Amino acid sequence: MIVRELAPNVYAFVAQDWDRKLFDELVPLPEGTSYNAYLVRGSERTALIDTVHPSMAADFVQALKSLGLARLDYIVSNHAELDHAGAIPAVLAAYPEAKVLANAKCRSLLAASLDLPKEMFGLIQDNHTLSLGDQSLRFMWIPWVHWPDSTATLLEPDNILFSCDFMGAHLATSDLFADDEARVERAARMYYAEIMMPYRKHVTKHLDRLATERIAMIAPSHGPVYARPAFILDLYRRWAGDTPQAEVVIPYLSMYDSTRNMVGYLLDRLMEQGWKVQPFNTVDLDSGRFASALVEASTLVFASPTVLDGPHPAMASAALLVNALKPKATRAGIIGSYGWGTSMPDNLRPLLGNLDVTWFAPVIASGVPKAEDFAALDRLVGEIGQADRPAGD
Ligand code: FEO
Repeated sequence: MIVRELAPNVYAFVAQDWDRKLFDELVPLPEGTSYNAYLVRGSERTALIDTVHPSMAADFVQALKSLGLARLDYIVSNHAELDHAGAIPAVLAAYPEAKVLANAKCRSLLAASLDLPKEMFGLIQDNHTLSLGDQSLRFMWIPWVHWPDSTATLLEPDNILFSCDFMGAHLATSDLFADDEARVERAARMYYAEIMMPYRKHVTKHLDRLATERIAMIAPSHGPVYARPAFILDLYRRWAGDTPQAEVVIPYLSMYDSTRNMVGYLLDRLMEQGWKVQPFNTVDLDSGRFASALVEASTLVFASPTVLDGPHPAMASAALLVNALKPKATRAGIIGSYGWGTSMPDNLRPLLGNLDVTWFAPVIASGVPKAEDFAALDRLVGEIGQADRPAGD
């Protein structure tokens, strides 16, 4: 692990996890990830902001030592999840004099996760300032992005915001800064979709608070540092805002091509009208791309054959993911088919109770879709068009 200077006496430790394929056994990592920690050497005291994944603890301590760091006064824990807090015991073993600081919620979670007595952690308060001599750290509570303990730490007077998970990106790159904005936007959007989207109301509230602060740089705990904060702040404002885009996302699967033919017909009619459409076969769903597509879509259409009177299990699984991620879509529909009978829409819709949508009438074909089913799909396209018009229409 190399150490890079972010600003005078401010150092970045970026633990690259180039090969990691999945986070939480759920979130795909097409470009790996990184766990970032930061060190601030004030004129009187030195503070570490977060640590790294426990699997990289030994490298991390070696990197701290490579700076010639003889004494560490504080370890600020912005968030207790172990990808940032898991190396705290290793750092404490190397620097036993360090005081670990966290808010009350984070302290409880750290004590539970690290199996340490909570009395050993010092408490920090919202908006409290900790002087390091010529520099200081100000702590800001940003709960629920994405845990209840989330904290951002602002270094003053440099105005570097250590935002932990907030505004991060699962991206292993040799770039310290987010210079390749197109690449970083893709990674940050996927990260937002998978981690932050369920909490978008909290995201908006925290963005409002940050808008009152002077921020020169945002240094998250995953992915590159934003030397141009407006880049990620503006994206987050758009992604978390209430206004969706005229886009239709269609999770689907098919067993004997009936549902597939209905989806194909629907896609063609929507594209003829200028809609942006994104179908996803849920049998081998890329949940990262799928989540990313949900960020701004106005309309969701779930397309499934009937299995044992309900949705196919692969569709039920995709629906559970959508329900957990709580996208901002305002309209939804169900289409599909059956062999001998179906309650598929009635069994699928309850899996999507978190959605705040108006439901279109289902379009369900008996066997292969026939003229009346295609006519019903035409009506569905008309209803979608009445709700939202494609951009430029
Ligand atoms: Fe990157 Fe919530 O930990």
